[in-house]
Amino acid sequence: MLLRLDKKKMTLGIIGGTNLFGTKLLEAAKEKEIETEYGTVYLLFTDDVVFIPRHGKTRNILPHKINYKANLTVFKVLGVEKIIGATSVGSLKRDIKPRSLVVPHDYINLYNIPTIYDDEIVHVTPGLDEGLRNSIIKVAKNSGIDVIERGVYFQTPGPRLETRAEIKFMKNYADVVGMNMASEATLAKELELRYANISTVENYAHGIIAEEELDYKKIIEDASKNMENLEKVLMKLIDALQYEKYM
Ligand code: HPA
Repeated sequence: MLLRLDKKKMTLGIIGGTNLFGTKLLEAAKEKEIETEYGTVYLLFTDDVVFIPRHGKTRNILPHKINYKANLTVFKVLGVEKIIGATSVGSLKRDIKPRSLVVPHDYINLYNIPTIYDDEIVHVTPGLDEGLRNSIIKVAKNSGIDVIERGVYFQTPGPRLETRAEIKFMKNYADVVGMNMASEATLAKELELRYANISTVENYAHGIIAEEELDYKKIIEDASKNMENLEKVLMKLIDALQYEKYM
């Protein structure tokens, strides 16, 4: 074992992205690099949480180059069984406004589906962990933070944003669009880890507001504005899940 985790407590795993750049959640955390059979992962840890910054230490790993297999495997190796993915998304629906928080209940991922079962015939049934989803929703409610309790997440491979025509298609089937969650949820399922997601809505997806042009620099800027409520929910979750208060 490379990290000594407190066995009396349930350490929570968090994978964070653009919407947690520079978060104060991790001010007291220590850094570590861990080797897995799929590659090396940079992470931060405290007694209560193991945090993987999805875009790496220097934030330069683009969405289509994230090593999802290594990231999820680290949690398995460390015995961290509950994982919350925090992701940034665009809204596919006019009534899901930028700055909302969404706790998706399902996802669509039609291509680039990662798997750890390259040589073995295993077909998992994908899905999100309902118990963890409920924990996120309860913690948010108890903190007076509004969350949208359901939503379908449509994953694209990135790094480019979507065309107007793609969004027109997606909005019939999903509520938000992003580049990460489905890959993490699928691998978590394969590794028998529990995974749920909380997404911050940074923008309306391309063409949802007809006249609006999308600009990724603005999306990243807006992501940091959305951080405060997300941090509050995660802070409470770290506390609540350790002692199974909500489970
Ligand atoms: N599309 C894809 N991913 C995103 C978006 C978007 O509009 N906003 C934040 N992440």
